[in-house]
Amino acid sequence: MNARDDSGHLLKHASGYHAPVLWNDVIQYLVTDPVGTYVDGTLGGGGHTEALLQALEPAGRVVAIDRDDDALTEAAKRLAGDVDSGRLVLLKGNFADAPRLLEGEGITSVTGLLLDLGVSSHQFDAAARGFSHRFDSPLDMRMDTSQGEDARDLLNRLDVGDLIRILSRYGEEPKAPRIAHALVRARPIETTGQLSAIVEKAAPRGQEMKTLSRVFQALRIAVNDELNALDRILEAAPDLIAPGGRLAIISYHSLEDRRAKRMMRSGNPEGTVHRDIYGNSMSPWREVTRRPIVASSEEIEVNPRSRSARLRVAERRDDSNQSPRHPI
Ligand SMILES: C[S@@+](CC[C@H](N)C(=O)[O-])C[C@H]1O[C@@H](n2cnc3c(N)ncnc32)[C@H](O)[C@@H]1O
Repeated sequence: MNARDDSGHLLKHASGYHAPVLWNDVIQYLVTDPVGTYVDGTLGGGGHTEALLQALEPAGRVVAIDRDDDALTEAAKRLAGDVDSGRLVLLKGNFADAPRLLEGEGITSVTGLLLDLGVSSHQFDAAARGFSHRFDSPLDMRMDTSQGEDARDLLNRLDVGDLIRILSRYGEEPKAPRIAHALVRARPIETTGQLSAIVEKAAPRGQEMKTLSRVFQALRIAVNDELNALDRILEAAPDLIAPGGRLAIISYHSLEDRRAKRMMRSGNPEGTVHRDIYGNSMSPWREVTRRPIVASSEEIEVNPRSRSARLRVAERRDDSNQSPRHPI
């Protein structure tokens, strides 16, 4: 295959909204039953959902969830035929609430669950959404613009200690105290442009761009409570995915990847595998990918966003013969 064919293949399910990363690996690892029910917890531009629908037989179906109305509107247009035929159901909500959202559709157990974490290219590129330091716009950063506190209110409300914690924890920002103090001094902060100017001034020389990215990432994670959503779905997933079914997670930074790795290994946030008296693992999961799958250099070339992507996959074990998952 030459480079052009390769790029075409890699961009097969891409749209102006978003280009799905590692879509071929996702399909290969996630689909264990071509007539099963799959959940795409992060619909975005619908690229992975589309690839899933194409990989499944007509009786297979996908339920796709997103917190962002733009994603649902786009997918309703792009995948209208599948929505009409009933093979695709689109739901607005937080994937952390997937068990409840699915129950509303009469679904209590699924064959596979995909999470492609973070924000879409559309969210990042739409100036008005406030996710990017490339534009000057109101500081919003909410994936679901219909509810919750936006970045402006958060930034102007938090005390300096909380700001330091957010910047260092979610942004892994080494100069968190210095930047947090500069932000507090400059309040009220209304726009991404104002925020960028303060951060650029407080950042060490030569580190302005990296510092901006870390600060914007930290605020976005805080505004959308992203790690809490991931923790909640990781906790709920063993009861949602049927034995033999799989969980696939694409993460883009170490905070997410560490959580996925530990839970997929052990079923608990510490990553400690508990064993029964015979030495058998009591984890609800069998790790399918011991090391994360990363994008090829060809994919990174055509879709730079894939550079930091890490795909991990685990299979739900059949624990009907095992002792309880949570030791009594
Ligand atoms: C990286 S994009 C997904 C792209 C998608 N896989 C595709 O192929 O186009 C992440 C999407 O997940 C959504 N999202 C992130 N966290 C969410 C959550 N906790 N609940 C629901 N949707 C979420 C975002 O709004 C965004 O549209």
